[in-house]
Amino acid sequence: MAKIAVLGYGVVGSGTVEVFYKNRESLEKKAGESLDIKYILDLRDFPDSPYKDKFTKDFNVILNDPEVTVVCEVIGGIKPSYDFVKNSLQAGKSVVTSNKELVAAKGAELLSIAKEKNVNFFFEASVGGGIPIIKPIHACLEANEIDEIAGILNGTTNFILTKMIRDGMGFEEALKIAQELGYAERNPTADVEGIDACRKICILASLSFGRHVYPENVHTEGITKVTLRDVEYMESYGAKIKLIGCARREDNDEISIGVFPAVIKDESQLAGVNDVFNAILVRGDATGDVVFYGKGAGKLPTASAVVSDIVSAVKHSDTSRSLTWADSDQKFIRPFDLFTSADYIRLATENIDVTKAVVKAVFGNVEYLSSKNQPANELAFITDVMTEKDVLAACEKVADSAEILGRIRVLDY
Ligand code: HSE
Repeated sequence: MAKIAVLGYGVVGSGTVEVFYKNRESLEKKAGESLDIKYILDLRDFPDSPYKDKFTKDFNVILNDPEVTVVCEVIGGIKPSYDFVKNSLQAGKSVVTSNKELVAAKGAELLSIAKEKNVNFFFEASVGGGIPIIKPIHACLEANEIDEIAGILNGTTNFILTKMIRDGMGFEEALKIAQELGYAERNPTADVEGIDACRKICILASLSFGRHVYPENVHTEGITKVTLRDVEYMESYGAKIKLIGCARREDNDEISIGVFPAVIKDESQLAGVNDVFNAILVRGDATGDVVFYGKGAGKLPTASAVVSDIVSAVKHSDTSRSLTWADSDQKFIRPFDLFTSADYIRLATENIDVTKAVVKAVFGNVEYLSSKNQPANELAFITDVMTEKDVLAACEKVADSAEILGRIRVLDY
């Protein structure tokens, strides 16, 4: 019998235990042996839980129990999770985690320890909640060189943007609902400022391009500057605004990577991804575009990915060699001022004709947009594809005769 320990009994931990016992019989068939959760680690007391006999507050009880072969870390954050995971791997136990912060910050090191100890370190639940994406990238798309990977990677912000687009709902109200539904992080700043999506694109990029990308090297913007006015202009353009994490292979063995709100044309599969749903588009050199879609947050979808990793860890008691990447000095990350995209720009001006002439001079021909509530002194337009550096320089010139109210990159997926 394989014995499992679950570290953390919050939203994902309790979901993991629930899914495990609900489907235990079929999981055992899939794993090829009987399974049980021997311990649940949490500092809180759960006297009314049907699993109350399994709770412990002492990680060392788990670490020192040779019967426990799979440790499932669903606490989140770096402290104390990093020590718990590292110690478990070093003790020869496989580890399964949903902790994107930990994988994004320490993935290369933890994968290397797992390899050295011939155990597994799995983290399917760290990206896309219930969507299978980590295993498909390393085990199903391995014939491809991945040219680009892009996705709606945060359920909370997609939920908020959907409420803004569909219902004209304000930001705070939509965030509150997302929190009540258990989608948001404990501190929702990580969601709305793009930090959570950044961790996830770092994991996907590290796996896709084989070298660790650390979050601090990724240009990251959240959705707090997106306004209902921007959303309205998108109707005339036939597009939606989505928080996108993207990474693309460039020449010279470099990658471009970033997280920011982006204008996505309605024809794109990413534009129709609403509410808490996530979608990840993988552009392989043999497959072309493959899109993975599903619930990116929430108790049971995330628990589904965790439990599936537990079964994989039991089934494959030696290490999965294709799930790995090397540490890196980050020099392969292209400076973001060389990132290329078209841009949506919204501005206010006292003199429309003068500003239009300046816009033509610095941006060339642009496509002007309209919106139902467009103020007489406002212009909104889409530029050609330019580098970040050139867009910023052009905006500075336009700012002599107008006030730039908003700028959102336009991506083509
Ligand atoms: N807060 C995250 C989200 C949870 O909203 O996507 C899943 O990682």
